[in-house]
Amino acid sequence: MENHNLFSRDTEAFIYNLKVAPIQRMLDFDYICKRSKPSVAAIINPGNSGYHKAFFGTKEILIPVYSKISDAVTAHSHADVMVNFASFRSAYSSSKEALETKTIRTVAIIAEGMPERDVRQLISVAKKNNKIIIGPATVGGIAAGAFRIGNTAGTIENIISCKLYRAGSVGFVSKSGGLTNEMCNVLGRTTDGVYEAIAIGGDRYPGSTMLEHMLRFEQNPEIKMIVGLGELGGDEEYAIIEAKKKGKITKPIVMWVSGTCTKIFPGEVQFGHAGAKTGKLEESADAKNKALRDVGVIVPNSFEDFDKKIAEVFASLKLPAKKEPEVPKLPLDYDAAVKKSAVRKPTNFISTISDDRGDEPYYVGIPMSKLIENNYSIGDVISLLWFKKRLPEYATKFIEMCIIIAADHGPAVSGAHNAIVAARAGKDTVSSLCSGLLTIGPRFGGAIDDAARFFKEACDKGLSAEQFVEDMKKQGMLIPGIGHRIKSAKNPDKRVELLKEYAKSFPSHKYLDYALAVEQVTLKKADNLILNVDGCIGVLFVDLFDSCKFSKEEIDEIVELGYLNGIFVLARSIGLMGHVFDQKRLKQPLYRHPWDDILFLP
Ligand code: ACO
Ligand code: LMR
Repeated sequence: MENHNLFSRDTEAFIYNLKVAPIQRMLDFDYICKRSKPSVAAIINPGNSGYHKAFFGTKEILIPVYSKISDAVTAHSHADVMVNFASFRSAYSSSKEALETKTIRTVAIIAEGMPERDVRQLISVAKKNNKIIIGPATVGGIAAGAFRIGNTAGTIENIISCKLYRAGSVGFVSKSGGLTNEMCNVLGRTTDGVYEAIAIGGDRYPGSTMLEHMLRFEQNPEIKMIVGLGELGGDEEYAIIEAKKKGKITKPIVMWVSGTCTKIFPGEVQFGHAGAKTGKLEESADAKNKALRDVGVIVPNSFEDFDKKIAEVFASLKLPAKKEPEVPKLPLDYDAAVKKSAVRKPTNFISTISDDRGDEPYYVGIPMSKLIENNYSIGDVISLLWFKKRLPEYATKFIEMCIIIAADHGPAVSGAHNAIVAARAGKDTVSSLCSGLLTIGPRFGGAIDDAARFFKEACDKGLSAEQFVEDMKKQGMLIPGIGHRIKSAKNPDKRVELLKEYAKSFPSHKYLDYALAVEQVTLKKADNLILNVDGCIGVLFVDLFDSCKFSKEEIDEIVELGYLNGIFVLARSIGLMGHVFDQKRLKQPLYRHPWDDILFLP
């Protein structure tokens, strides 16, 4: 790349600080310019490394993220620009480090409010190393059809309407970033477009001057005319005047110094830019415009005439028309397309029980605040989220009773034992809980669904209790919900007693009655073949659904899908976690089963 060109279609840059939007804007610009490679080589994000995902046209790409400038530079020696989005506090050190690397040639400093002393030091580092600073307090600049710094030139629509996707013949330099966007529009309308537009930034001591860029434009054969937009305050424009006088710039310059309105103010006025301050007479916009005009710079009578003057000068150059390339259409971002109702897409998920998209979560259409305000119980919440309806109070109380009753049955039962062993092996709460939960199955706590299914089927078919027991025996099956390891007719299970007592309040309990009739038959075989807690919960749920007028299909589906074992899982999680916490609190060591409790056979 020649010295007068800072950027080309191959320029690659580092972005200092992970600024997602400007990175994407640069890549979008690359895409409509049909660059073969993205202009963002890497991101430097202090303290973090990894990858950042962004779009290059329709494709997603991964941009490497480095935590240090030195690492980025080592990995990407061809990247010669750093767009520095550091704050005004850290812009000095990061810019200095970049300017002192071998390979970074241009540093654009976006931050506003950098101390002048820091900038002057950076300028001297840049001079010493033959580097270029654009900024601070700038949007940056753009080389049409080649490379864009961050947000320069605004929206992609603006870039397309200004034809910035291909190089024109005008070199433009200004102090203001905002007006650079506006001037790209003006140049798009009045000339064959921008070749390069640079905003040097509004500080009194910019990292590079308007003149330095104009001198580059002068040397660049592709640039046929120069347009400048100065402003009151400082002496930038006098340097241009000197250069013009000495014949260092021969290409036509059309220039305007804004701020002519200051004459109407009685005293000194500070404008938005730090450097834009009325003061000495020669720093006024009028004085500068006159001095520029005096050395042959084409100066309009007012800003309103600026575009006409530019058009006149451009027309006088009689340049051949530029070839207009076809501009690729930038794909809409999905969110933007949705907003415009421009796309539709089938969803991958359906949910009918809850919604968290609003200000507060909803359970089946009821906002959380209402649940709290109206004292919804755990039983209500389960009935909403599981059965999608609010059940009567006797039903929700029954659900809560099942949870209390099945929450724990001591440390010796298989689930608690496994949770305890896992906790003592140093496993965390979730893993230890899962170890216990995974023990729940057809013999332990997981017989509720099958008990509900078998008792209901037999009862609905009108089988006598004796026939049912006989049939199950013939099939070689144990009756789910019958039998207990330690509970028996002589040692009844209090939990079952309590449930049976509560069921008296149900409008109907025919399935419980049927199960109790079966129990009478099995008890004749052995004393421990009682209706157990799983069996009792199972049949009572069927009675409850029947009482609450669930349809046969609804009941069958609930049983089939495994809701009822879910009650045991939910309840027993309370106890299992209790055991896990208990073991951890007691600092129990690793459990090892004693050999004398194992029968070793040869
Ligand atoms: N239906 C019919 N007969 C049974 C049943 C049953 N559910 N349970 C045991 N028997 C019979 C056995 O066939 C055996 O008969 P046999 O001596 O003629 O061979 C005798 O009773 C003893 O059987 P075991 O398996 O030794 O009984 P145990 O007391 O060890 O089993 C258990 C208890 C595992 C609960 C067993 O009764 C069973 O599997 N029941 C069905 C599953 C069930 O309901 N589990 C939930 C229990 S409650 C809970 O975990 C919260
Ligand atoms: C339980 O609730 O865990 C039991 O009924 C099982 C048992 O062995 O006591």
